[in-house]
Amino acid sequence: MAKIERIGILTSGGDCAGLNPVIRAVVSRATGLGWTVVGIRNGTAGLLARPVQAIELDRRVTGSDMLRLGGTVLGTTNKGDPFAFPTAEGRLIDRSDEVIEGYRQLRLDALIGIGGDGSLKILRDLAAKGDIRLVGIPKTIDNDLGLTEVSIGFETAVQAATSALDHLTPTAASHSRVMVLEVMGRDAGHIALTAGIAGGADVILIPEIPYRLKRVAAKIEALKKEGRNFALVVVAEAVQTEDGEPLMTYHTGGQATYGGIGHYVSERIAGLTGAETRVTVLGHVQRGGTPEPGDRVTASVFGVYAVDLIATGRFDRMVAWQNRRVVDVPIAEAIAHYQAVDPGGPLVITARGLGICFGD
Ligand code: F6P
Repeated sequence: MAKIERIGILTSGGDCAGLNPVIRAVVSRATGLGWTVVGIRNGTAGLLARPVQAIELDRRVTGSDMLRLGGTVLGTTNKGDPFAFPTAEGRLIDRSDEVIEGYRQLRLDALIGIGGDGSLKILRDLAAKGDIRLVGIPKTIDNDLGLTEVSIGFETAVQAATSALDHLTPTAASHSRVMVLEVMGRDAGHIALTAGIAGGADVILIPEIPYRLKRVAAKIEALKKEGRNFALVVVAEAVQTEDGEPLMTYHTGGQATYGGIGHYVSERIAGLTGAETRVTVLGHVQRGGTPEPGDRVTASVFGVYAVDLIATGRFDRMVAWQNRRVVDVPIAEAIAHYQAVDPGGPLVITARGLGICFGD
């Protein structure tokens, strides 16, 4: 087994709460083994920059402040795939050799990459091409990575969405309104489903379950007949219109993200029921904020385990949580097993048992 003295760590893809706790855990464990930890800035963008953007992480980042800090002190990016890097002229070029060369310049023995399915795929391709010894840690508020029951960031995102429902309920009741909450999830409905149950939603719309608005309207009418003067509707951003059209928001630079389904649903509910409706689009509030205890613990467990994988010479593996245990799985398999909401799974069954309408 090759001797390990110096490892790199990077955060990649959209940020989420729990990234700093995982950096802290990696640095604590690795420096405890006498290794040097190099933090690469802004994901693979730091390896493309010249000079390479990286800093040695010492015990200053192992303080408990990092547990409480949202975002990532290393920075991250969800743009600029090095295998299809956009040029100023709008072409896509392969810059993977430059990234690998940047990695070489840091003289690292192994790399810990923290990312979702897209980032882990890119990192794995780089590792295969550049002979990089890689260990992956799953993070995504969308919770859609396969072979792990939980990814870093999901818990805090659910907390934000649940708290939004807690805040919407009294104002909905005061004004006799139907409140529509649009939450993130590309392309899975885990946040909508989990927060919808936790926050007492009456209707949950997720991309995994086809819906009809007339059924949603019937649920709202039924609530009214029961004497309820308000209703809470949670809709996942990736839900399409009834005609199957995804609703997108376009940003400067050409990037497109989901956006608009909340307003679509709200307008149609108002039209079908005559109810007064309002929309809240929660957006990046779900990504920032103080990591919830669940995310802090998952991050700590995953960080320590990732270092131990390197120490025992196990690479191309992703740390995962299964059956109350931390385990490791092949990165390729985790990426291949996309984890959408199971329409026959326990949370959907529970929600139906509670009388929550999915519009189907
Ligand atoms: O994948 C994480 C995520 O937050 C999705 O839920 C959301 O659709 C997307 O990223 C937003 O991306 P951006 O930060 O580029 O707006």
